[in-house]
Amino acid sequence: MGFGIQSSCYAVVTIFMVFSCYCIAHTRHHLYSNDRRSSRWRKLERNCDLSEGSWVFDESYPLYNSSACPFIRKEFDCIKYGRPDRLYLHYRWQPHDCNLPRFDGEEFLKRFKGKKIMFIGDSISLNHWQSLVCMLHAAAPEAAILLETEDSITTFTFQKYDVSVMLFNSQYLVDIEKEKIGRVMKLDSMKNGDIWKEMDVLIFNTWLWWYRKGIKQPWDYIQQGNITYRDMDRMVAFEKGLTTWARWVDSDVEPSRTKVFFQGISPSHYNGMEWNEPGERNCAKQTQPMKGSTYPGGWPRAMNVVSKVLSSITKPVYLLNVTTLSQLRKDAHPSSYNGFKGMDCTHWCIAGLPDTWNQLLYAALIH
Ligand SMILES: *[C@@H]1O[C@H](CO)[C@@H](O)[C@H](O)[C@H]1NC(C)=O
Ligand SMILES: *[C@@H]1O[C@H](CO)[C@@H](O)[C@H](O)[C@H]1NC(C)=O
Ligand SMILES: *[C@@H]1O[C@H](CO)[C@@H](O)[C@H](O)[C@H]1NC(C)=O
Repeated sequence: MGFGIQSSCYAVVTIFMVFSCYCIAHTRHHLYSNDRRSSRWRKLERNCDLSEGSWVFDESYPLYNSSACPFIRKEFDCIKYGRPDRLYLHYRWQPHDCNLPRFDGEEFLKRFKGKKIMFIGDSISLNHWQSLVCMLHAAAPEAAILLETEDSITTFTFQKYDVSVMLFNSQYLVDIEKEKIGRVMKLDSMKNGDIWKEMDVLIFNTWLWWYRKGIKQPWDYIQQGNITYRDMDRMVAFEKGLTTWARWVDSDVEPSRTKVFFQGISPSHYNGMEWNEPGERNCAKQTQPMKGSTYPGGWPRAMNVVSKVLSSITKPVYLLNVTTLSQLRKDAHPSSYNGFKGMDCTHWCIAGLPDTWNQLLYAALIH
């Protein structure tokens, strides 16, 4: 599954109320750090591992009415595109040892007055970002929102609160450059870091594209140092690219200004073996999460790379450890209920699972 972020019509548009335009466990909220300045973050970690838990039915969810959020792209707007079941909207993540704080959008907007929050990554970041925009819009439905798009960046600004929630489209975080021989992915170059380091909150994600081959692969060569390769082991390339990002965090991020998050791997559901329904080839029939706290399909190998690279970073970086809690949500993908009619068991409906990712983000930010 892949779609670009720059679809249809964007322009600088001021949006007031009616917007038709649009023409983002056992999971540990883990602080990877040798830097002991951010004691408040450590406290959260010590008290409770938010990633260990299970999904419980809760009538008071979802957190907002998706039909009243005018920003949802056709890929994620499951109800609009005919999803008949509603059970998937009514689950709340319940950590074993504590409660996830309920999201307070108004408090969020007040607390982040004058701040810029940027999601950086592929269409999973787009999914995550769109959810946060809907959660904030639901808290302040009257607040004027300015939408701006410039190159790879799309920004929603809640003007009354002066809070910007931004998306930077980057499939690999590292650069792809057009050269004489073709498109070259540079595993040790990350030029956009100069833009990112000016933000107050950064939420990174990259994974979906690393195994893309054939016409879906957006590069022709892969380069590290002075050596140009036709291809290489993709897990090795992922680790090298992520390591470039990790070095950048250590060299360029100013921790007193910028909080850095990395989102763990977001799982897909195309193989029923993983959830004890061998024979299923997609998520089409799924209407409920898995019970319990463990996923039979196990831990994605890429998460070992993520853990290893994150633990090499000296500055504070926070892992949003969403993998297991998302694996349990085989019911939360759009499947065929989207505006392009393809079967999508990679992205997630909005409202839905990404709202929980944002609750984890919120919990980490307010503690
Ligand atoms: C993330 O969560 C999983 C499942 O809860 C856990 O096994 C793993 O250790 C956590 N990873 C990190 C790096 O905290
Ligand atoms: C959700 O919003 C839509 C559009 O504003 C409205 O028609 C509908 O009644 C709302 N649903 C609920 C459950 O509030
Ligand atoms: C890369 O090329 C430069 C200039 O040609 C050279 O100085 C450097 O040693 C080379 N680095 C490696 C790792 O080969």
